[in-house]
Amino acid sequence: MNKPVHLEQFLAIIANHTGLVIPEQEYANLGKILAERIKHSQSRGAEEYFSLLGSGSNDSDREWQVLVLLLTTGESYFFRDTGQFGLLEKVILPDIIDRKSRENREIRLWSAGCSTGEEPYSLAILLHKMLPSPDQWKIVLIGSDINENALEFARQGRYGAWSFRRSEISSDETYFKRKKNSELFHGKEWVLNREIRNLVTFMRVNLIKDTYPDNAGELREMDLILCRNVFIYFDSDTIRRVVGRLAQTLRVGGYLVTGHAELSGQIPDELTGKMYPESVVYQRKPPQEVAQRPGKPPRVVTVTPSLRERAKQMVTPSGVKTLSTASMLALPEPIASMMGVREKLRLAEDFFKRGAYHQAIAKAQEVTDSELSTIPVQLRYEGLFLMARSYANSGEYSKAASCCHRAIQTNAFSGQPHFLLAHLLMAEGKDEEAKKHLQKALYLDSKHAPTYLELADVLQKEGDNKRAKRLRESALEILRALPPQSRIETFEEWTVEELIQHVLELVKRDND
Ligand SMILES: C[S@@+](CC[C@H](N)C(=O)[O-])C[C@H]1O[C@@H](n2cnc3c(N)ncnc32)[C@H](O)[C@@H]1O
Repeated sequence: MNKPVHLEQFLAIIANHTGLVIPEQEYANLGKILAERIKHSQSRGAEEYFSLLGSGSNDSDREWQVLVLLLTTGESYFFRDTGQFGLLEKVILPDIIDRKSRENREIRLWSAGCSTGEEPYSLAILLHKMLPSPDQWKIVLIGSDINENALEFARQGRYGAWSFRRSEISSDETYFKRKKNSELFHGKEWVLNREIRNLVTFMRVNLIKDTYPDNAGELREMDLILCRNVFIYFDSDTIRRVVGRLAQTLRVGGYLVTGHAELSGQIPDELTGKMYPESVVYQRKPPQEVAQRPGKPPRVVTVTPSLRERAKQMVTPSGVKTLSTASMLALPEPIASMMGVREKLRLAEDFFKRGAYHQAIAKAQEVTDSELSTIPVQLRYEGLFLMARSYANSGEYSKAASCCHRAIQTNAFSGQPHFLLAHLLMAEGKDEEAKKHLQKALYLDSKHAPTYLELADVLQKEGDNKRAKRLRESALEILRALPPQSRIETFEEWTVEELIQHVLELVKRDND
């Protein structure tokens, strides 16, 4: 008889197949997902489902695709992280183009973990802008992901407003055409032009299981690899293995760009880090510069703790360590319930910060109705607003809007849900309604610089340059009081210092 399959074994097979480390506080959620998949895959129980996952068959492959979809988030948007894209445009791509124009006029780029394609397409657009005659070059641009559904979406090249939340590129008709009468994306859909689409080849690559470098295929001798917001799912050992293999997939002098502080210090000897104000980037060293230390593991400098460690160390905002369930049992019922809710919300917030929005929603939804009725209004409001932000970031706008309205009903004095609602309305093209919510947000919180900046944009669109300028000047006053190297929500890709420069340029333009 087969032994019963325990959660530990599922955790191991998932980590082994995908690199995904499921934090302890997510075990209950994983249990629900597995129960659901056992039912849908028509397995007769956990053991049969476990065998299916491990069988290596076509059915197993299909099941992994679904499971990965449920365990990861495919959040992406065009020109995500303007700092890094600025660096690509001003430093990295010019260096690659310069070198390759003297060599073979072949450029090889890889966006690994590209989700729905915004990242490789942003690269393709940049390259198209920068190469004087792109048709005289051979361009290999690979977009890869473990999630076949995301890749299928990417191949279509059709996007809604949320994919352009930090970029104006959709209005550039060289690259995008607005689709009339679209039934998708609230009727606001843009189609990427075929020339750019054809520059990118999408393929499924599991960074944990598949082979790269691959000298017989295209995953080799890369000039640039972007692998951003992917390592957040992996433990430090997996990060080390994946980065090591990515390094070997670069040509000497080729660049690796990751999300900020994602490598947890796991930098192999083959790479050297270069620090720019916008970001650290890594370059492959020539072989003679790589230390010859057979058998010695790569240098490990711990900069940030791995996810698992971070999850263990989680503390309340006031710095008090999380109370265990056992210690909560001794507390009077309403307090225990409140602590339980606080803990769930704090974990949900942690998922949110890591970009795991579906998991954030699932965690916040664990707060039961009976618990809701026992907790203070402010806590209820925080939960609703966190759900609103998570839904918004995972593209579920109507659910996000409904949570915003509930948050406003719960706490009529907070500007934040009005601010988010305004964003959602702008994505639907409802600028007039958005303006009203921005004005309310400003009334409720006169110190929130992003509200001034967004309202200024709306007013400028209406031709009211004078008021737009005044609002931007007020935003500048607030921003100047903040630490220059800090970042504020909505404009995270800039430091406050950079944001001030940007706003100053807008004000200057208003004057001209
Ligand atoms: C948050 S998205 C990042 C998208 C894009 N790079 C960006 O920064 O906008 C993370 C992607 O990593 C993918 N991913 C997770 N584990 C992976 C693995 N083992 N191999 C390849 N892709 C993986 C997920 O499917 C998801 O699409």
